[in-house]
Amino acid sequence: MKSIIVAVDKKLGIGADNDLLWMKDLPDDLAYFKRRTTGASVIMGRNTYDSMGRPLPNRENIVVSHRPVGDEGVLTTASLQSAYELARYPIFVMGGGRIYADAIDDMDRLYVTEVNAEFPQATVFFPRIDPTVWKEVSREHHDADERNKYAFDFVVYDRNDS
Ligand SMILES: NC(=O)c1ccc[n+]([C@@H]2O[C@H](COP(=O)([O-])OP(=O)(O)OC[C@H]3O[C@@H](n4cnc5c(N)ncnc54)[C@H](OP(=O)(O)O)[C@@H]3O)[C@@H](O)[C@H]2O)c1
Repeated sequence: MKSIIVAVDKKLGIGADNDLLWMKDLPDDLAYFKRRTTGASVIMGRNTYDSMGRPLPNRENIVVSHRPVGDEGVLTTASLQSAYELARYPIFVMGGGRIYADAIDDMDRLYVTEVNAEFPQATVFFPRIDPTVWKEVSREHHDADERNKYAFDFVVYDRNDS
């Protein structure tokens, strides 16, 4: 099973200055990400790995880059296809923009957190979710609260033909 996991703003913005747009303002989304990906293989681009600076615990970390990362607990490979082949567990492609654009056609499922806000500073975007290819199969709404600055929805898309 191959899935993408991503959080997008209202214009599909996902990042700026090699960081998340909402920084640490959505802890419940970080918790959701952790819950979904623990025990899985996470595949990420070099910029996303560099923005974290260390592997994610309790997951198989695979970085796609032509430059080896060299950190303990991180596998580096030069292509997305070889990343899929290396993965020993269910796959979550976890960004960033370039990896998402290259991987979306290979995916079975998309886990998309839709953040109910716009961030004009966004420079990196998620590709359009084509409704002829993807159908929404679940949506869970969360209002903003004292911990989470913005309202958001956890949305799951499966392929129309699945
Ligand atoms: N909102 C979210 O859910 C979310 C999630 C993750 C990241 N982000 C944000 O996304 C931004 C980073 O995205 P980005 O597009 O700049 O970078 P990225 O996709 O993380 O990394 C790009 C680099 O990864 C390698 N790469 C990516 N796809 C490849 C492919 N198909 N084949 C071979 N190599 C590939 C290349 O590295 P080399 O040049 O070293 O070969 C490329 O320069 C940051 O702002 C980050 O915070 C947001």
